Amino acid sequence: MKDIKKYMQELEEKIRYHQYLYYVKNTPEISDFEFDKLFSELIELEKRYPEYASINSPTKVVGSDLSNEFEKFTHKIPVLSLENTYSTPETLEWAKKIGLNQKFSVEWKIDGASLVLYYEKGDLIKGVSRGTGGVGDDITENVRTIRGLPLVLSKKITLSVRGEVYMTFADFEEFNSEYGGRFANPRNLASGSLKQKQSSQVARRPLRLFCYDAYVEDKEFQVNTYEEIINLLKELRFPVSEDIEFVNGKNLENTIEKFRNKKDHLSFPTDGLVIKLNDLKLREELGATSHSPRWARALKFEALMKESKIIDIQVTTGRTGKVTPRAEIEPIQLAGTIVRYATLHNQDYINELGIGIGAIVKVAKRGEIIPAVEEVISPPQMIYKIPENCISCGTKLVRQEEFVDYFCPNENCPARILARLIFFCQKKQMDIEGLGEKQIQTFYNLGYIKNIPDIYKLYQHKEEIQKLEGFGEKSVQIILNGIEKSKSKSLKTLLPSLGFPEIGHKVTEILIDNGYDSIEKIIELVQSPNAKELLLSIYGLGEKTVSSIIQTFKEEKNLNLIQELQELGLNFTYQTSNVNLPKIFEGETWCVTGSFVNFQPRDKAMDLVVLFGGKKVSSVSKNTTHLLLGEGAGSKLEKAKQLGVIIVNEQEFVSRLPENFKEYL
Ligand code: IVH
Repeated sequence: MKDIKKYMQELEEKIRYHQYLYYVKNTPEISDFEFDKLFSELIELEKRYPEYASINSPTKVVGSDLSNEFEKFTHKIPVLSLENTYSTPETLEWAKKIGLNQKFSVEWKIDGASLVLYYEKGDLIKGVSRGTGGVGDDITENVRTIRGLPLVLSKKITLSVRGEVYMTFADFEEFNSEYGGRFANPRNLASGSLKQKQSSQVARRPLRLFCYDAYVEDKEFQVNTYEEIINLLKELRFPVSEDIEFVNGKNLENTIEKFRNKKDHLSFPTDGLVIKLNDLKLREELGATSHSPRWARALKFEALMKESKIIDIQVTTGRTGKVTPRAEIEPIQLAGTIVRYATLHNQDYINELGIGIGAIVKVAKRGEIIPAVEEVISPPQMIYKIPENCISCGTKLVRQEEFVDYFCPNENCPARILARLIFFCQKKQMDIEGLGEKQIQTFYNLGYIKNIPDIYKLYQHKEEIQKLEGFGEKSVQIILNGIEKSKSKSLKTLLPSLGFPEIGHKVTEILIDNGYDSIEKIIELVQSPNAKELLLSIYGLGEKTVSSIIQTFKEEKNLNLIQELQELGLNFTYQTSNVNLPKIFEGETWCVTGSFVNFQPRDKAMDLVVLFGGKKVSSVSKNTTHLLLGEGAGSKLEKAKQLGVIIVNEQEFVSRLPENFKEYL
């Protein structure tokens, strides 16, 4: 009996190997006939000895006719999406910010359906759709039927793998013609297939998979670069695209070009490229927004571009004084909206492309939001030149050396004030209902709102406003209610809305997270003699931001503004929602070094410190009380030892946390 079990296991392994050669490597070593023989033999044996059939046996890929309802599955780590760019220069701009001396990968963006595979000790446990990114559908039974997907790995490794399920053009044509051309494109068919209720139906569809990311939990398989992730995936026999190139940032442009030249000769659908930073430690430092990582960009082929003609060029002065030229174009329909204006960025850009009134240009939607002129098709008679003086206040524009832009240096420039007011009321900031660009402009022209505090005194002009054209009693009440409501917004929104240089949402959040959760605390901090040192020790604050914070909260006029707004009833404090959580780390200041099993990126551990009442700092100093020590610790350990800082390993740290700490990650 033992021999039969062993024999069946060997047979399974043999079949898996030949499936890998056939579906992944495209180099079969045996004929289809021989393969079918092995397969039938295993089916027979499993019928006779069902107790020996493993859950991930290759025979399970034919699927079942039972209708499966998909259960929801919460992803172990958020399944992030990618931010789009639409042109090589735009992608390079992003890469430049990271550093062109870094290594990047370039690969196809496969146009299919996103999938996450969870393996435990080498066994496929779950296949889950991306869903919302946080929660997906458990489509394991359907996923099992995908050819080339390893159900059992050659190593007993615990990991999650991301990939894209797709269909080749040839398979799509063949399958679609059988169904009378019912399906629109391979992507729809691939993603529709994964949602089939009967896995036996899915098994009939020629689905394939490319894997492009892995998150390894086992320490012994730790990886440091994306290249190592890809090699590990290959070693574990996952299907991985053959076209993943790792290049130095300086060669990115050439590599992208090379891919572009190949894009029309592929056997599977793509909608662009994905460029990723290779170094995983750096990735962790860069982090992610709530929906996409800062260390990767998609470069979409379908640059949402259309031709139009420049009718006029105007400049606008923004709240920081930055002067931005924009082209008024003959209206075009672009990605669902009518575009009438396109940004020209700055004078260098205008010169480089040769832009002027009368030019026929290509306009693209960059990064989804702001349309920009990308190319000149027919040149203008004259290249446009930005005026020497601010069009709003007449002040001579200045160009600081490190900037490509011109600035109006006049703090009291009407255009700057107006832009500041508009910014303050915007949705992303104080979100004052009814007080849009048009209304603010009207009230500004009438002298009702000349600065931010005036917004909160607008009720004094209620009667006059009601008499204005376009303002009824009702609409005025909406505005006044909106203004009143905004008073309840906390410091978290209010501070970034004031538009102080460098003090945006992220920086405000960092200050709050580190205990500076009221304006008094921030001002007190700035006034302390070691303000700079204290601020610099906060994780996420750099030199430039720190000096801006110090300057801002020392300046008389800013302090007066804050005081006036406080008197008008605005809320300069932040009531944390974690008041009921235990203050485990109260009075402690933590720093972190190395990497961790439970906390990836390691910032997550520091977030818990803050959540449970402690402070986090980015470097070890005499103010640091604890150092959280992970694998591969850096120089911080030495410094901590010298200063007598308490050193805590991951296990000890976890033991101080509440049992359900994972819920807070
Ligand atoms: S990487 C955190 N690489 O594109 C980064 N994504 O628009 C994860 N996609 O949700 C994505 N091919 O479903 C990556 N080679 C590739 C890809 C790829 C296709 C999909 C993926 C993602 C979507 C973003």
